[in-house]
Amino acid sequence: MTHAQNAQQFRINPLTESFGAEILGLDLAKPISDATFAAIQEAFQKYHVICFRDQVMDEKAHLDFTLRWGELEVFPEEDKTTTANTFYNVANTSREGEHLSEDDPRVLFQKVNARWHTDSSYRYVPSFASVMYSTEILPDEARGGETEFSNMLAAYDALSDADKRRFEPLHMVHYYEFGRRLYPALPPITPFERDAVPPVSHPLVRVHPDRDNQRSLFFTVNAGNEISGMSLEEGQGLHRWLDEYASKPEFMYSHRWCENDLVMWDNRVLLHRATHYDMAKYRRAFRRTTVAGNGPAFGPFSLIPAAVTSK
Ligand SMILES: [Fe+2]
Repeated sequence: MTHAQNAQQFRINPLTESFGAEILGLDLAKPISDATFAAIQEAFQKYHVICFRDQVMDEKAHLDFTLRWGELEVFPEEDKTTTANTFYNVANTSREGEHLSEDDPRVLFQKVNARWHTDSSYRYVPSFASVMYSTEILPDEARGGETEFSNMLAAYDALSDADKRRFEPLHMVHYYEFGRRLYPALPPITPFERDAVPPVSHPLVRVHPDRDNQRSLFFTVNAGNEISGMSLEEGQGLHRWLDEYASKPEFMYSHRWCENDLVMWDNRVLLHRATHYDMAKYRRAFRRTTVAGNGPAFGPFSLIPAAVTSK
């Protein structure tokens, strides 16, 4: 599909049969007209993950584009006096450019996020979308380092009717501290973080009012493994099953990063994870912003306010 607006011609090419698209010929650092932005919003709603190729984005341009989508999520650290906590550094390098060792806490967090997750599922109001810009990519010969996405709308649809019924009343407990259980070498969370992001539960089956109440699976593997309404053992067994289920190739798109890619994904309906790469040998760095959600996740038994349904 070709769009001609804003004196810019751009193309939208699907990346798989069911979701994901790349957008070519659009410069996000230049002003974007309302009509062009509406076409981007439509593509985002349809494809769930969109990759804008060949972007040259400084922090300001990145921030300005993110703010077109809604309010920014601020990361749950105590010091909010710097602009740094609106950008999340997804990298095995420091902000100053140093290649970090594999046991550095900042790198351990990258390992936690090699598990299926949506960004900020540990919040009562989980995030809407993430916007990530590649600043250092792996060389062609390096293996791994892709970002994999799994489509939870398709995953829900493919469940048996019996599983759809079984999952309907269940919730998963999500908590920010879970990464510390996986990697005890991480520094403990601070009292501020403990207060700011206490554990929450979200419905395992998420209902999307913006999609005619279509359903998706909603769970993560980086922020917990307990299913409320089940014994710990049974819940963890189901959680392991979900982890494997999300990895079915028919639900997935694997993004191999190119230089100057800006990728934006919908945290409401997708899971993502990073694939393994040789962290000691290669540098890999991204700058990410997160668009806040506009309300809690709804489940099959939620009373969804009319104001939300009519949007
Ligand atoms: Fe993530």
